[in-house]
Amino acid sequence: MIDFLLNGQPRHCAVSPDTSVLELLRESLGQTGTKEGCASGDCGACTVAIGEANPDGSIHYHSANACITPAHQLQGRALVTVEGLAQGDALHPAQAAMVECHGSQCGFCTPGIVMSLFTLHEEQQRAPAPLTQQRLEAALGGNLCRCTGYRPIRDAALSMDDHPAQRPQWLDATAPEEQAATRTSFIQPTTLAELVEERSLHSEAPIVAGATDLWLEVTQRLTRFPRLVDVTRVSELNAIEETTLDDGRAGWWIGGAVTYARLEPLLDEHHEAFAHLLHRLGSAQIRNRGTLGGNIANASPIGDTPPVLLALGSRLWLAGPEGERELPLDDFFLDYKQTALREGEVIRAIFLPRAETGRHLKVWKLSKRREDDISAVLGAFVWRLEDGVLRDVRLAFGGMAATPKRAAAAEAALEGKAPSPAAFQAARLALAEDFQPMSDVRGSAHYRQLSAANLLERLRLVLLGENQAQPGDHTDREVMLHAYAH
Ligand code: FES
Ligand code: FES
Repeated sequence: MIDFLLNGQPRHCAVSPDTSVLELLRESLGQTGTKEGCASGDCGACTVAIGEANPDGSIHYHSANACITPAHQLQGRALVTVEGLAQGDALHPAQAAMVECHGSQCGFCTPGIVMSLFTLHEEQQRAPAPLTQQRLEAALGGNLCRCTGYRPIRDAALSMDDHPAQRPQWLDATAPEEQAATRTSFIQPTTLAELVEERSLHSEAPIVAGATDLWLEVTQRLTRFPRLVDVTRVSELNAIEETTLDDGRAGWWIGGAVTYARLEPLLDEHHEAFAHLLHRLGSAQIRNRGTLGGNIANASPIGDTPPVLLALGSRLWLAGPEGERELPLDDFFLDYKQTALREGEVIRAIFLPRAETGRHLKVWKLSKRREDDISAVLGAFVWRLEDGVLRDVRLAFGGMAATPKRAAAAEAALEGKAPSPAAFQAARLALAEDFQPMSDVRGSAHYRQLSAANLLERLRLVLLGENQAQPGDHTDREVMLHAYAH
């Protein structure tokens, strides 16, 4: 059984480990305003808002895809759906603005869009800030509309403030007491010690955090999970701690269950290129729930953050029944979906090195959809330029092999060389030694090999631009156009 608030009303429901929030709403509670489109976190038709308590006791709402959110994770939370927004005849500003701006035609996407606007409105109430194009895209990038077109929806977002808001008091209500400890099929430990013990007792049970990938097993492959171990409430896995490693590198241990949304402010400040990737990695709904630890443990060859972390020289802090240990990320990915995790081990934290003066990071992702898509190819490149020569070159790719992988031969072709056309030509040719990519729905082997080589050429052009101008004078695109024009 779980206890939570649905639009301010206490609910006490029976759910199985593989029940989604969407299934609970539509099948058990008769709340059919929330729609099912893709059932895979891509379209946003199922968007709801989930409220969690801040340290000061106030409630913070974030958008989530109900189709891939386990219902058990509602325990002790406040859930808001489109049915809860209007107060009698008074529409919520998100709804009123959508009506006024003609933001809906067939209406199938509309509840999801209204809920994304609701969370944006909540954010504005908490910390008003200009609604830039970037913020609108960040808030609405996970919602697809097939018939209205996006301009009226954008207009609605921009005009929400024109509509008086009567914020219902129940939005600030606290959710019911935790009862997680009593459950045996959806296990929610709160400490690392409990987690390791539960893993030992239930080695067959998959670990779940944001569920942004695992839940596709439920919705696309109809897999049933009799038992799951949820790591989202383990305090050690939610910490972000500054640290200095034994090798002298400064940085942070990022807990394995830290979401992309929580990581974003840190990346914004210290690793701009990595922060930018988060907005190519997934929609707000995905960034609010997906975790760094999940993206690594999943060991997908097309996970977006592993190549970046490989290029940065990240390390993992692992914990298991035999104790804790550190492992370079370089040694973690063994083969397709195979990792160096031992029986019962979990990723406690990931070391993110602090940016160093003179050490550069570039990350480029190629995918068919900009905001919410899986990579065909992703390249992450780190280097220093010392006396006109490339040093500490680390080139990592996703989508090019059975695992996220560094391009050792291409790195060797550049290390210690001036960034000349000849050196980069050698590096591009060396990619054939590093990778024999496969063909699939996201791109042919030829496309992937050519794209990886083109990303190296892009890097060369960026280096050329950085030698000729002050950093920040040109966008990468301008640098490339400039280079090709000469
Ligand atoms: Fe498409 Fe959930 S139904 S994101
Ligand atoms: Fe029809 Fe958006 S109004 S899909």
